[in-house]
Amino acid sequence: MSEPPSPALELQGLSKRYGNFTALQSVDLSIRPGEIFALLGPNGAGKTTLIGSVCGLVRKTAGTIRVFGRDLDADPVGPRYELGLVPQEINFDPFFTVAESLRIQQGYYGRPRDDARVDEVLTALNLQGKKDSLTRALSGGMKRRLLIAKALVHKPRLVFLDEPTAGVDVELRRDLWTYVRKLASEGTTIVLTTHYLEEAEELADRVGIINEGRLLMVEDKAALLRRFGEKRLVVTFATPLPALPEAGQRFAARLSDDGRTLTYVERDGCAPAGDLLRALYAAGLPIADVETRRSRLEDVLIEVLRGRPSASAA
Ligand SMILES: Nc1ncnc2c1ncn2[C@@H]1O[C@H](COP(=O)(O)OP(=O)(O)OP(=O)(O)O)[C@@H](O)[C@H]1O
Ligand SMILES: [Mg+2]
Repeated sequence: MSEPPSPALELQGLSKRYGNFTALQSVDLSIRPGEIFALLGPNGAGKTTLIGSVCGLVRKTAGTIRVFGRDLDADPVGPRYELGLVPQEINFDPFFTVAESLRIQQGYYGRPRDDARVDEVLTALNLQGKKDSLTRALSGGMKRRLLIAKALVHKPRLVFLDEPTAGVDVELRRDLWTYVRKLASEGTTIVLTTHYLEEAEELADRVGIINEGRLLMVEDKAALLRRFGEKRLVVTFATPLPALPEAGQRFAARLSDDGRTLTYVERDGCAPAGDLLRALYAAGLPIADVETRRSRLEDVLIEVLRGRPSASAA
């Protein structure tokens, strides 16, 4: 029997203190090879610190970091050749052209010159037209595209995207999502942070939620949305109702004070909103409009950060 593959990344008790301030508190996390993992949390939660500890930009205070099974304390350099990082801050040498800076990056990572690969990432990030421009002559969004290209040009097996699409236009965001999915389907492991929760919703297989340096929860995205998710049904009546109708009572729906709208929240395990709607129609009520809304990752994140009691009961 073959051994199961090592996790792409394994953190045990990872902690970081800046003086008296604790930025990461004993984080345990295991990222599977080939998955897209979204690390979510408010400003200052510790996301960039976590990524920096793995990539060698931040010196950890305690804990173990393994990259594809190799402990970074035992070998701080070798495993890091497998990593790619799109940093949150834009930082590159303004005096090189776009193509030069990509070739230099290949060299940093000990890869032979590979112009075909440079062209491939430039095309994927829609930067072909700027290949020979100096990096300082790029627009803000183009600089961010170049950061992404740099992180990928040496074919890393584990890529950190720290808010990769901040300040990027809608079209590139879509293109990037497509490209990230392609990389993942080819076996690249992706760890993503983003404040655009739509991005995590689109891409992530699993989601981790971090706050004040603590990893609060790690869960399959679909399961998380099912468990926390709810569907909200809002029915508007053409004429106000004097009281909550019998069907509404049965489903524990709520009638607004003016009697014009009825709201029903369908959580996991509740009766389907459609059943209530049918009962309302059958009762001959003067329904003027029906709206439904499904909760999104954004709603879930807010609930978890507020510490909704069921948040910890996995
Ligand atoms: N070099 C440093 N010295 C002192 N404190 C730091 C340093 N770097 C980060 N911190 C603090 O550590 C905490 C975590 O910062 P970090 O950059 O990891 O947050 P983040 O989750 O990436 O936030 P954002 O969403 O704003 O990017 C913050 O309170 C920050 O002020
Ligand atoms: Mg950050």
